[in-house]
Amino acid sequence: MSSIQKGQENQQGGAVAEQGEFGHKSLLRSDDLYQYILETSVYPREPKYLKELRELTAKHPLGPISAAPDEVQFLDMLIKLINAKNTMEIGVFTGYSLLATALALPHDGKILALDINRENYDMGLPIIQKAGVAHKIDFREGPALPFLDQLIQDEKNHGTLDFIFVDADKNNYINYHKRVIELVKIGGVIGYDNTLWSGSLVLPPDAPTMDDYLRNNREFVLEFNKFLAVDPRVEICQLPVSDGVTLCRRICSSI
Ligand SMILES: C[S@@+](CC[C@H](N)C(=O)[O-])C[C@H]1O[C@@H](n2cnc3c(N)ncnc32)[C@H](O)[C@@H]1O
Repeated sequence: MSSIQKGQENQQGGAVAEQGEFGHKSLLRSDDLYQYILETSVYPREPKYLKELRELTAKHPLGPISAAPDEVQFLDMLIKLINAKNTMEIGVFTGYSLLATALALPHDGKILALDINRENYDMGLPIIQKAGVAHKIDFREGPALPFLDQLIQDEKNHGTLDFIFVDADKNNYINYHKRVIELVKIGGVIGYDNTLWSGSLVLPPDAPTMDDYLRNNREFVLEFNKFLAVDPRVEICQLPVSDGVTLCRRICSSI
């Protein structure tokens, strides 16, 4: 997600970045360069139904919280590179990153999709169905933490997932990590979205450019990044894609 507002649509149906600082869904310091990436490498290859869902999501009042087009292209590549089959997504919204994941998975791939809100998922579901990948998705409505606790209680679920994408409440990222680390297999990957928090992590806490939403969650993201940096169970890689994505590759079973 991003705190950034989308601009108008261009001819390819892509969001045209607005000019100015934080004018696009990326930490790149040039709107034109970001637009160049979208128009050269992302939109021409964007699957038809993913584009349709992106355009539908852009009309939602909370549209800017969805993942960015270049970010979901990256997820698509990552999922294929690691040959993921069993996956999970925490934080679905209208299903934009979910559809990208479903399209990247093999026909018998699976995604356990968790969100407290089913209404937004239902908005995107007809497009996911048209794309022919709804059979891969097991959507569960409700808060993710108790659901994860339930999964962990059954040892059969431990180490079963190839890929997990976490894009929900930032104040719970450490709590999510403590649970999903049990569910991802050794060698599997967890991706955390928004780990650079619109660049606010390096601003003074009282910076006037920060709105309350950014300010209120900034400490959680800072704490989470510090926590991951010393977690010996994973190797990590911080990517400045979109609002920051941290990849964690699980390397051992316990601390
Ligand atoms: C940033 S959006 C997800 C965007 C989505 N990954 C995409 O690319 O379109 C965050 C989602 O997390 C969900 N959420 C917030 N708190 C949650 C919780 N405690 N458990 C499960 N989902 C939660 C919200 O309802 C929202 O749909």
